[in-house]
Amino acid sequence: MTQNKIDPFTPPDNGYHECPSPIRHSKLVADWAALQRIFIRPEDDDGKAVIIKYMEQILFGLHEFLNSNVGITEEISLKELTRDYMGTLISPDPEKRLADVISDIIGRIAPRAVNVASPYFVGHMTAAIPFFMVHLKAITAALNQNVIKLETSKVLSVLEKQVLAKIHRIIYNLDDDFYSDHVQSIDTSLGSFTTGGTTANLMALWVARNRFFMAGRDFDGIEAEGMARALGHRGLDRALYLISRSGHFSLKKAGGILGVGNKNVISVDIDSSYKMDVSKLSRMIKSLKGGGGRSENRYYRRCRRGRSHGNRHR
Ligand SMILES: Cc1ncc(COP(=O)(O)O)c(C=O)c1O
Repeated sequence: MTQNKIDPFTPPDNGYHECPSPIRHSKLVADWAALQRIFIRPEDDDGKAVIIKYMEQILFGLHEFLNSNVGITEEISLKELTRDYMGTLISPDPEKRLADVISDIIGRIAPRAVNVASPYFVGHMTAAIPFFMVHLKAITAALNQNVIKLETSKVLSVLEKQVLAKIHRIIYNLDDDFYSDHVQSIDTSLGSFTTGGTTANLMALWVARNRFFMAGRDFDGIEAEGMARALGHRGLDRALYLISRSGHFSLKKAGGILGVGNKNVISVDIDSSYKMDVSKLSRMIKSLKGGGGRSENRYYRRCRRGRSHGNRHR
């Protein structure tokens, strides 16, 4: 490989890009050519044509694209489908051109996926997305920011806090001073985005658990010390929380993850409008109080607040 003086991406000629193996192109090798192909250089003209063909359809005619390429266009039983996905060996020649990967997805995967945007589709939660989400996703994928830390996000972290404050304001509508103090405060947080409902439920219950079993005399908090020490510290033999009978199963899972135990996630009946039946809730708390201490019952109530969609962004 010759050194190209005007190309800032050309690596120093340290031999790293050289691959002496005769089967060079049948293995995934992190040589310079491969790195350049993956991270820097676009596809060749043929490849570009395939990408543009499909991207144009997706970006400017999403609905038609989904209707003609996705789901219910091919009927196949699950059993038949699994037959095509039995191989567990990685191909000795795994490299593919992006254009081929795209053609593969459109030709082999999309017809067997579910068209959740179809008006005939009946399913839980997932549905059509506004067409512009695809455009915005392309931009966010290209930016690839990570709000875990400022050095990978900068303005995105600041923007995230502002959006959380706006959501907080929709729900709690506190005064201007409150929001000026907290919107960009590095010591407080008005909420947290999560990746979905399961993690939202888990996070709400995690916060509730940690607040109840917070650090005290000779105790560094449940997060540091674990459930056994935490219960001992409060003189309890178990912790539990109450959820609606129609609560999502992730609430039970959270009981396992948080060390509460999913047997200790207790369902309360719902009324005719599918809301938690408050009188039954109150009876349940009374009966539990008979078997548990006062502090244990405070824990039930706190955790109960973290049960539904509405708490996602807290
Ligand atoms: C109330 C509730 N919580 C949690 C979830 C799980 O959400 P996700 O699939 O985003 O983890 C759902 C989704 O059905 C839900 O309805």
